[in-house]
Parts: sequence; C-alpha cells; structure tokens
Amino acid sequence: MQHSLKAVTSPSPDWVPGSWRSRTALQQPTYEDIPELDGALAQLGELPPLVTSWEILALKKSIAEAQVGERFLLQGGDCAESFADCTSPIISNRLKVLLQMSLVLVHGLKKPVLRVGRFAGQYAKPRSADTETRDGITLPAFRGDLVNSPEFTPEARRPDPRRLIKAHARSAMTMNFVRALIDGGFADLHHPEYWDLAWVDHSPLAVEYKRMVANIGDSLRFMETLGGESISYSRVDFYTSHEALLLHYEEALTRRVPRQDGWFNLSTHFPWIGMRTAALDGAHTEYFRGIRNPIAVKVGPTVQPDDLLRLIDVLNPNEEPGRLTLIHRMGNDKIATQLQPLLEAVKREGRRVLWVADPMHGNTESTSNGYKTRRFANIAGELDQAFDIHAAAGTRLGGVHLELTGENVTECLGGARGLVEQDLDRAYKSMVDPRLNYEQSLELAMLITRKSAGMA
Ligand code: PEP
Ligand code: CO
Repeated sequence: MQHSLKAVTSPSPDWVPGSWRSRTALQQPTYEDIPELDGALAQLGELPPLVTSWEILALKKSIAEAQVGERFLLQGGDCAESFADCTSPIISNRLKVLLQMSLVLVHGLKKPVLRVGRFAGQYAKPRSADTETRDGITLPAFRGDLVNSPEFTPEARRPDPRRLIKAHARSAMTMNFVRALIDGGFADLHHPEYWDLAWVDHSPLAVEYKRMVANIGDSLRFMETLGGESISYSRVDFYTSHEALLLHYEEALTRRVPRQDGWFNLSTHFPWIGMRTAALDGAHTEYFRGIRNPIAVKVGPTVQPDDLLRLIDVLNPNEEPGRLTLIHRMGNDKIATQLQPLLEAVKREGRRVLWVADPMHGNTESTSNGYKTRRFANIAGELDQAFDIHAAAGTRLGGVHLELTGENVTECLGGARGLVEQDLDRAYKSMVDPRLNYEQSLELAMLITRKSAGMA
C-alpha cells in the first residue's frame, strides 16, 4: 500500500492544501491562460516563504493571551496595498502611525498591545460584481494588484498570473523593511520621536499625545531607576495579516516545515476570511480549516448564531487556544441588534474566540460628489457601542481592526479637523475603501482608551 506522509500527519486526513478546489470558490478571477497560471504557481511554490512557523506559533500564543484579556489586538493598514505604494515613506509612515496608536493604547489600557499590520500581502480584493461597464464597454472588475490593474483598459484588467510572483516579491520587500526598522530600534519606547509624523506639531490632538509620550517616558525612567537597569523595548513584535482571498496564491505558499506537524500558510502570520467568502461549505472555509496559523473570520450583520457556531466547529473543532478570532463588522446602525445574539450563542456554547471590532466596513457610504467614504462619527459610534454590548453580554472586546494610513489623506469625513465632503477632492488616494488618516487613527486610539477607562 502506498503510504502518503501527507495523509499521516495532516490535521485532518481528508485535507490537503488543494482540497478547496472541489468546493465553490467565490471572488476568484478567471484566468484565460491556464498553462500560464500553472507556470506562475509552480514558480511561486519554489520561492522562499515570507514568515516562519515559529513566528506563527508565537502569534497564536499571544492571541490566546488576548482571548483571556491579557493583551489587546491592534490590527490595521490599507484596505488594498498597491505595488506602487511599496515605497519607503509609505511603509514607514504606516508603521509610525500603528506604533503611535499602540503607544496610546498601552498607556490607556495598561496592558500589552499585540500589533498586526494589514500589510505585506493585502493585495487581493473581493468585489460586488465580476465585471465593470463604462460607456457600453464591459471589462473584468479590478480585484487588487495581485490580480490585475485598476485602469479601465482590456490589457490592465486582464487577470495576469505574473502578478502572483510580483506580489510575493513586494510582500517580501515590505516585510524586509519592517523587520529591519524594528530590529534596528525604530520601535523603542525610549525614542517615540522616531515615529513623529510631521503633523504632531499642528494637530488638535498634539497636546494630549505629547502628554502621553511624556508620561510613558517618566514611567520608563521610574521603572529603570527602581530596577537599576535599562528596560529594553526595542524588540516589539510586529505581525502581518491579509485577507487570504486568492486561493491559488495561498495554496502555493502553504508548506510543511521540519519538526512540526501539519501545514502552515507561510505567506502571512494571520490570514483572515472575508465576509463574502465565509460560507460553511465554501472553498475558503475548506482551505482555512487545514492550516495551522491563527485565523480570523469577518462576521457581518446577516450571520445567524447557529451558522456561526457551525463555522466555529469546522474552523476550531478542538477549541485550540489562540486559533480563532471573530471580527465583527456590523455598521453603526446595526450593531445594537445584530451583535448581541452572536455573543450570547458563542458564550452559551463555551466557545473560545477572540472578539475584535472592525468599525470600518459596515459604515461605507457614497457622497453626492461620487466618493466612497465613511463618517468618523459612525466609526467611533460603532466602536463605542461594541464595548457596551460586549460588557452587557459578559464577553470581552479584545481588539480592533482598522483601515488606516500614515499619510495625510482625506478619505473619511469628520474627526478632530472636521473634514467635509469638499475636502475629499483634496487627497483621496485609496484604490478601494476610504481609510482613516494619521490624525483620525490616533483620535480613535484615544477614544478607545477613554472608553475603557470609563468602563473600568
Ligand atoms: C476588507 O477588510 O477590506 C473587507 C473587504 O472586509 P469585509 O470582508 O469585512 O467586507
Ligand atoms: Co476594505
């Protein structure tokens, strides 16, 4: 009898990295030239991974700690990364704003913050339609730089397998730069001035932010005086995440590693299933159930409690700590009715999850001047309600998932500077969803700490 090693040590004997192919895979591009696709996938399968299994397992342990309230998860970055934005200032500014937010959260929540970027692989996007029609011409929809290009021409919109290789390379460059910055001491709490963005001096929030930085400096020095030695915070952990949407790409980077059982998705530490592809019998659920990474699922307002419980059964049958995060994204007007039944059901069944709020994706709207935007008041409102609904249900909101950038964009309305519709014309750069700019991001972090302090 032929004995396959895969079958012996795979987490489930009927699972292999390609078993998703026998299920319905939504939101996948249609590649015209299959040999060309297979060639790119074969090449991708030979390239080195972007992360390691031990980093993945360390993150899983930290998520398990967040599940019991010992850490708070901050997950954020672009809606869609683009190849063109793989530049030094864009990567470092995004890192700076995440570090500043985490500093505000550490200070306010008095617990370690687990930092996860939506970057180094966030290149594939779900779309509401497969095609787009302009002036009588119909072309494939733009599905992210991993698939095609946003310009409205047949060449740009053709799903191009060479982009799979390019995305891997851009992700590696992004990771490399982030790792080098962090290892070089960029994230050291002794030097928050390294992360100053130009705005700090003229923002309405500057005074509060600077007070926090000074406070943290004082406490650090106090602790160092007590302990008689310098406290090293230079090695903060930074993990990566993306929506693992394009399953061919994810499969090619799903590998076995020496001295570990099972399979790891080595394209990112923390992949998630998007709201549109989280069907119980769908290809994404099939793929995700077999990998050993910590995983997340976006949970929208139409999900029913029983369906969620069945999804948990499939994705975390053994109640493994740190394995499963549920990211609810309901909308400011829906969260009050839709979230509580899900929290109750998961609690009643004693299931172990990390609950995270994404206050962005349920609050997207179009303006009269044709922009896709989000109101800061709705984002803050959903988050504020999320804390209260969890408290009332006896569950814990253990993190936030945000779309943000370190750039001075004008994509979301409101915030401390009171951006209005006319401002959107000035600096609207997002290729897909509107992001919080650096000031709005920091303001949200401050709101979270005020809310938690008020609830303590
Ligand atoms: C996203 O995170 O960019 C996204 C598409 O979210 P969701 O799946 O929650 O709609
Ligand atoms: Co988005």
